Amino acid sequence: MTLPALAGPYTARVVLRALNPKDARELLAIVTSSRSELGRFMTWPREMMDLEHARRFIALGREGWLTERTARFAMLSRMSGELLGTVELDSIDFRKSQGELGYWIRTDRAGVGFTTEAAKAVLHYAFGTLSLNKVRADVAVGNVPSARVLEKLGFALEGTLREDRPIGGVFTDHWRFGMLAREFTAAHASAAAAPVNRAVIARR
Ligand SMILES: CC(C)(COP(=O)(O)OP(=O)(O)OC[C@H]1O[C@@H](n2cnc3c(N)ncnc32)[C@H](O)[C@@H]1OP(=O)(O)O)[C@@H](O)C(=O)NCCC(=O)NCCS
Repeated sequence: MTLPALAGPYTARVVLRALNPKDARELLAIVTSSRSELGRFMTWPREMMDLEHARRFIALGREGWLTERTARFAMLSRMSGELLGTVELDSIDFRKSQGELGYWIRTDRAGVGFTTEAAKAVLHYAFGTLSLNKVRADVAVGNVPSARVLEKLGFALEGTLREDRPIGGVFTDHWRFGMLAREFTAAHASAAAAPVNRAVIARR
């Protein structure tokens, strides 16, 4: 069992591929330099303190491919090749035909649209390659940049989940966003929205 490859790993400015063990050092470096911003709304960046932890993060991501549970993509700059962050489709459930979108980006590259661009390609993967019916995303209440990414992609706000999960030990309300396959098709049917390259992703 393994999830299929992403059909087109490049968008205009971003390359998407699976994280591999060689990324551990760079991953640790960008998480370390972005820790305060990332840690505001996610717990794991507070805990990634050494190379061993970074390697475990990568190994878990690779395991997710094999169990068909998580497709975690490294997001890299197409121009410089530097690691920008990750975008993932997690909690993939083919019975419910649903998955959960998640993402983060190094703080010094935020605010120029990289995440929205990469997430759109991952939605093509979710709705096209995997034929899912729905993608959801849960965002800590107050995480405005993340909510904005979803808004730009065309997600609908479906409600607020009370004390849904702990962030740094504090149970935190989360906005639940969702997008249906037919809504994605209607919003992003143009060729320009699709990944621009058809090469096969190298996953191992
Ligand atoms: C959320 C996150 C991934 C967004 O990444 P990004 O690459 O900056 O996203 P984009 O540039 O595609 O879009 C960000 C949008 O938020 C807006 N934004 C940023 N900070 C903002 C703020 N304080 N208030 C309002 N809008 C804000 C940007 O202007 C942009 O919207 P625009 O294109 O309409 O101007 C990034 O901020 C991040 O990594 N945050 C920490 C981790 C995190 O919260 N992950 C998500 C968990 S659900």
